[in-house]
Amino acid sequence: MTLLQVMAADNAADVRVRTTDDAVIGAELAEHGITFGRWPVVDGAAAVDSDALLAHYADAVAELNASGRYQHIDIARIHPDDTNPEWPEVAAGARAKFLNEHRHAEDEVRFFAAGRGCFYLHLGHEVLAVVCEGGDLLSVPAGTLHWFDMGTRPDFIAIRFFEEEDGWVGDFTGDRISEAFPTLDELLTAS
Ligand SMILES: [Fe+2]
Repeated sequence: MTLLQVMAADNAADVRVRTTDDAVIGAELAEHGITFGRWPVVDGAAAVDSDALLAHYADAVAELNASGRYQHIDIARIHPDDTNPEWPEVAAGARAKFLNEHRHAEDEVRFFAAGRGCFYLHLGHEVLAVVCEGGDLLSVPAGTLHWFDMGTRPDFIAIRFFEEEDGWVGDFTGDRISEAFPTLDELLTAS
């Protein structure tokens, strides 16, 4: 279930909002100029190959990209593979990549076709943790301080929209703020 948890930036224990109500999440994010939407999910998407998923969402993608702004649209996916002894290392490496605060020169636009991941948006005095699940579309505006946690058992399929080939390179701030906030796993187990 999609979840929004708003916390004070200087005190993660100061939880100001925690909701799974899509309408409240959308309104809260819209107040900050962040686009949040929902597209229908494909049943059993994890078993569908990426080309077929892109074909399935072609109309929605075309509508989102009506201006032609996004030059590169692809799918990123990661699924647990317990038959691979190296999987834990692969998972940890993938997770570590964007676990520290950074920003991008262009919007970070993601549609989760399946699975789950959490964007943490550091907006002034607050951090908004948005746990996205299958069906969620989120656009993190260019320049927004944020980090992303795919959890200890990464499992998601995301359609990604890029304006430039290298527009999504992370500019890391060096701030360790993310370490003070609940991880994706912790957010999901909190009551
Ligand atoms: Fe990012």
